[in-house]
Amino acid sequence: MDEIFYWPSIASSIASRIDTLFNVLNAIAVFFILLIVGCLIYFVVKYRRGTNADRSNPPDENLYVEVAWTGIPILICLGLFGFSTWTYLQVMRAPKDAMPVYVVGKQWMWKIQHPQGRWENNELHVPLGQDIQLIMTSEDVIHSFFVPAFRVKQDVVPGRYSTLWFKPTKLGEFHLFCAEYCGTKHSGMVGTIYVMKPEDYQRWLHSGNAGGTMAQQGEQLFRELGCGGCHGPGANVRAPLLDGIYNNPVPLQTPDGSTKVIIGDERYIHDSIVNPEQEVAAGYKPIMPSFRGQLDESKIRLLIEYIKSLGTANSGRSGGLKEGVPPSAPQSPNAPLASPPKERPATTPLAGATNDVNVRTPGQ
Ligand code: CUA
Repeated sequence: MDEIFYWPSIASSIASRIDTLFNVLNAIAVFFILLIVGCLIYFVVKYRRGTNADRSNPPDENLYVEVAWTGIPILICLGLFGFSTWTYLQVMRAPKDAMPVYVVGKQWMWKIQHPQGRWENNELHVPLGQDIQLIMTSEDVIHSFFVPAFRVKQDVVPGRYSTLWFKPTKLGEFHLFCAEYCGTKHSGMVGTIYVMKPEDYQRWLHSGNAGGTMAQQGEQLFRELGCGGCHGPGANVRAPLLDGIYNNPVPLQTPDGSTKVIIGDERYIHDSIVNPEQEVAAGYKPIMPSFRGQLDESKIRLLIEYIKSLGTANSGRSGGLKEGVPPSAPQSPNAPLASPPKERPATTPLAGATNDVNVRTPGQ
């Protein structure tokens, strides 16, 4: 459906679907308002006191009318349910090859970084026609990322990741709003989305403040924080190697001693840094110190990009935490193993390593 005068421009692939849903809902509402108010006025006029309308034999039942006023609303509601569910799934499910961009909400600004390293505040540059997936979290309170021209809005919540995807279909500048009251300057938490030609975007991406890709910056941070002291291949503390955990099944311990398998996504990596005691890899001791309060979200996302760069489900380097599972560890029967477990490098002392724990505290 085309643009309607009271709406912002239609600038993403899903915008017109949202508008169609909205138009259909509006049309149904307007139809029934006219129908009901029309009947009301007609009968009020026709049967007003003093008219000589036929008032004999008023009907007090009519099966056809009853079936109609039950059946038609049911069909309309089921139709709307199907249509809105279909639309919702289109909006919520990002295409597999969507380009990730990281967003952190903070009182009162948006801190955005592209995997290639370039970062920006209260601005988001994106290439035309490319599926973009925002990976978002907050450093303080709940914010909401809202781009009216794209018809997308998603809460940004501290302590967890939420995502949002869109495909810009129109060049230009579009408003970005925070759509959740988040404090004194909530109304000033606004920004601009720049939709650029892909070649302009590439030029923009490689100018300015990049300073290495996010993965490279994350690797440096990983070294500065001494993470490799435990997670490196030659470490003398027994901690899981991080190669290939991204997007692969990760077996976790549960209180009853069984193993639960989850996917090593951004959320898992993030939570393992700030709340390492909550999800402990099967076969390992809960000895990792928490980095809660010591790393802000803009730094954690660098570490995540670095760990992602160590291999994914598609890269053939999979293996993940599985090498840490002792042979006796119970495996969930429906745990999908992406690849046979690989051996930990022979240089790594395994036996007794957990008794000889020498945990580095961050900053050392
Ligand atoms: Cu952030 Cu309102």
